[in-house]
Amino acid sequence: LRVGIIMAGLSSEKEVSLESGRNIFSKIDRRKYSPIPIFMDSDAALWEIPLKLLMRNCTRDVEEDLAEEAVRVPYEELKTRVDLVFLALHGKYGEDGCMQGLLELLKIPYTGSGVLASALGMDKLASRRVLEINGIDVPRTVPVFRGAWKPEEENALFERIEQEIGFPCVVKPSREGCSTGVKKVMSRAGLSDALNGAFLWDCTALVEEFIDGMEVTCGILGGNPPTALTPSETIATSDVLSLEDKFLYGQGENKTPARLPGETLMKIQEVAVKAFEALDLKGYARIDMFVTSAGRVLVLEPNTQPGMTPSTVLFHQAAASGITQTGLVDRILEAALS
Ligand code: DAL
Ligand code: MG
Repeated sequence: LRVGIIMAGLSSEKEVSLESGRNIFSKIDRRKYSPIPIFMDSDAALWEIPLKLLMRNCTRDVEEDLAEEAVRVPYEELKTRVDLVFLALHGKYGEDGCMQGLLELLKIPYTGSGVLASALGMDKLASRRVLEINGIDVPRTVPVFRGAWKPEEENALFERIEQEIGFPCVVKPSREGCSTGVKKVMSRAGLSDALNGAFLWDCTALVEEFIDGMEVTCGILGGNPPTALTPSETIATSDVLSLEDKFLYGQGENKTPARLPGETLMKIQEVAVKAFEALDLKGYARIDMFVTSAGRVLVLEPNTQPGMTPSTVLFHQAAASGITQTGLVDRILEAALS
């Protein structure tokens, strides 16, 4: 089977996506699949790229030579070139239902979740509402909508945040990944700047309670029932986990399994599976969570197309659960075909 691995794209996470795509390309089982690297440029055009471009350092370096070295693939021709798509895209337009919708129209099977679940997964406000009605604990959240934000009402809003959320709190865009636009705010004086920072990325910002606990993350493989991988502890080098903490080799740190008692690890897995099912996710996902010393297990957000870079935590979790890197890529592809 020909597997088109679509990577890069238009979001703030395109560099991570290039790494994910390259890594999936190298880990795919070639006895079963012929991988075809497909680069999505910043105008959303698709290009089949040669190995030489796939190995470039950053998306800009790839884009420079697309016209000369790559083959442009109009959407309607994708089906003649691939039998299946591995979506290695992260963030807006790639992980949020847009590409999933396009692939549905083209009748090409693809990895991961469908249109609605992908859109829900990308939107922290919407996914928290669905999780909440399914009895899953999420951080207390006050949404702030840019369009409805009137300077004369700022005092009332900040008062509400102080009452309902308190300080410190965390401000973030509702639909972004990789900690883009995320800020820890210590007092009312910092709210304005943090909200404006989040609004650079999305028209909805979330102000959420700061959880004093351990950030953990748990990969899930779809199935009936879904399988939880071994949860990891994510160790931040600053207030907020940066992109480097999460994906670059030697930066930040993950501990798999998380340093928690066995029964807490099991509780994390249970909640992660429950979240996966509540959001109707498919194939695979990674659920980011917090555990407090009082035993509260909260879901922060699902990642429906989690990072697949070589240093990414999903591979560590799979390894701890006895699944090789090629085995993991294989399970994700198998799920797309079932
Ligand atoms: N959004 C990134 C890729 C992740 O959480 O894995
Ligand atoms: Mg995340």
